[in-house]
Amino acid sequence: VPGACGAEIQGLDLSQPQSDEVICAIREAFVQHHVVFFREQHLDPAAQVAFGERFGVLEDYPFVAPLPGHPKVIPIVKEPDETSNFGGGWHTDLIYRPVPPMGTMLYAVEVPQRGGDTLFADGIKAYEALSGAMQGLLGQLQVEYNVRHVMRDIDERDNATTQGNRSMPSQSDQEVLNTSPVHPLVRTHPESGRKGIYFSREHTIRFAGMTPGESKPLMDWLQAHLTQPIFTTRFHWTPGALAFWDNRCLIHCALNDYHGERRYMHRLTIAGDKPV
Ligand code: SIN
Repeated sequence: VPGACGAEIQGLDLSQPQSDEVICAIREAFVQHHVVFFREQHLDPAAQVAFGERFGVLEDYPFVAPLPGHPKVIPIVKEPDETSNFGGGWHTDLIYRPVPPMGTMLYAVEVPQRGGDTLFADGIKAYEALSGAMQGLLGQLQVEYNVRHVMRDIDERDNATTQGNRSMPSQSDQEVLNTSPVHPLVRTHPESGRKGIYFSREHTIRFAGMTPGESKPLMDWLQAHLTQPIFTTRFHWTPGALAFWDNRCLIHCALNDYHGERRYMHRLTIAGDKPV
């Protein structure tokens, strides 16, 4: 795969059970390349769940109603008459949870003729490119997150509280809305031991101990640094493609450049551990 991260794995039919050796090899590629891609799969939600479960415990996803009969699988859909999309800003999934997920698995059911690609930016490469002094400075910072920022932006843009992907907040969603965890800005990857920038601008309130105004200039710089083309990979979806990405070291962004066409995906989330 051209770009800073990602590897395509060929020759597997993921609708079939996989041996422990194959799962181990996929996991190694995932830890080394941070996102792995598969093409031309034929996965119903049960098969996607069975494959996902080989990598960890599947989590519920807040705010989006799951597929009927498949509580861990959510549809990510943009209809031809919709203008905003899900995940259209750079982010890492659920960083606004106290224990954010390890990985996300997204499967393409229906994709537009052109567009709807997903961009990934590599927090480890972006960290390793910094001077020692800047690494030291960032290593001292903690970031406070909440999901309300991004939800408010979407609501203001769409003038609605029920975008195609979203249901009205339940009680457990309210708890998510009211939680503002603090995570280190530089995170040590629990499997590779490498340090990387762990940051999701759109969910950020501020650096812990600073005001939002004091935080903003460095946050703007971080976002610009992290999303430089040299740290990114762009994945073009085809029907049956599956991406499995590492939320602990990547941010991603779904391009919204296909108005008038439908894009329909199935997504599941795999639990992680507390960032350190
Ligand atoms: C997401 O942010 O999980 C959605 C990514 C995509 O639809 O490409």
